[in-house]
Amino acid sequence: MKATITATSRYLPKQIMTNYELEKMVDTSDEWIQSRTGIVERRVVSEGETTSDMCTIIAEELLKRSNTDPNEVDVIIIATVTPDMPTPATASLVQNRIGANNAWGFDLSGACTGFIYALDTGSRLIESGKYKKVIVIGSDTMSSILDYTDRNTCVLFGDGGGGVMLERAKDSDSGVIDSILRTDGSGSDYLKIPGGGSLHPASYETVDQHLHYIRQDGQVVFKYAIKGMADISEEILKKNNIDSNSISLYVPHQANKRIIDGAAQRCGFKDDQVYININKYGNTTAGTIPICLDEAKELGRIKDGDLILLAAFGAGFTWGSMLVRWGK
Ligand code: ACO
Repeated sequence: MKATITATSRYLPKQIMTNYELEKMVDTSDEWIQSRTGIVERRVVSEGETTSDMCTIIAEELLKRSNTDPNEVDVIIIATVTPDMPTPATASLVQNRIGANNAWGFDLSGACTGFIYALDTGSRLIESGKYKKVIVIGSDTMSSILDYTDRNTCVLFGDGGGGVMLERAKDSDSGVIDSILRTDGSGSDYLKIPGGGSLHPASYETVDQHLHYIRQDGQVVFKYAIKGMADISEEILKKNNIDSNSISLYVPHQANKRIIDGAAQRCGFKDDQVYININKYGNTTAGTIPICLDEAKELGRIKDGDLILLAAFGAGFTWGSMLVRWGK
């Protein structure tokens, strides 16, 4: 028995931050950001708005769209690197707020690959036969970990998220077909939040040194990201004996338009096979892929029977790909 996606939803905060606004905060320009990343604007949460707020709205919409009573939900998995707090898990907060009284849940930290990790985990739970309905959400409040004095990072990210309802597939062709997931911790220094954990617990010094913000070596990440996403996309196509022409939509993690173009070209995808919305939202980390899925579905770019390829690369390093045949 396969797991399949029976509903999608997304949430983007209302407040828009343009490149022009960033020009007033750091030494950057709209021209630089657009030409180097493809980003025009991104969303940021309003004061007091959190990751669990976004996830609750996403989960409530999933319940509606999949015709699910909250008591029927078995598991809630939330991929995020920006939980409301280290513990309890964001999944617990969401479980309580949507009234999923029979569910258990947990947060999953896989950075930009978090949603694919979570979707794979959720699919295997459904395939086990023990669970019938699993909510999988990827959502991040990146503005809470961005240093708005560091032009190397603050221009790249935005807030937002999306999710899917996973259920048992009714027909044997539909659902999650395969996935390949990887981690390589030798890349851990190139993209990280050094402070606030057991290594550098919060102190005046860690705050003064901006250790609670995300830091990266952009050029190293850039190179590994193109290679990682392209390699793992090609690998899953080859493993399943699928030609790139058979993919209806390639949904890559949205980190940088040049990374997406580089990976897509290497895999032989034409422009109309690739979903891109980084111009509107920037990199929402675990949020990018489920946001794309819901938007693409709404725009009619995903239909029942379509073969979809997901791919991501992120901090860790983490990376992964997944093949899905859309349909109930
Ligand atoms: N505005 C203006 N100038 C800038 C900015 C900025 N925001 N940031 C860097 N620069 C400058 C640099 O200082 C450098 O100046 P110099 O030539 O005088 O030294 C120049 O622009 C070129 O810098 P590069 O680092 O070579 O620029 P590059 O083309 O590599 O683009 C970028 C930088 C956008 C960060 C790119 O490397 C990248 O996207 N890396 C991947 C990072 C990423 O996506 N991380 C997110 C999480 S991981 C993931 O999701 C895959």
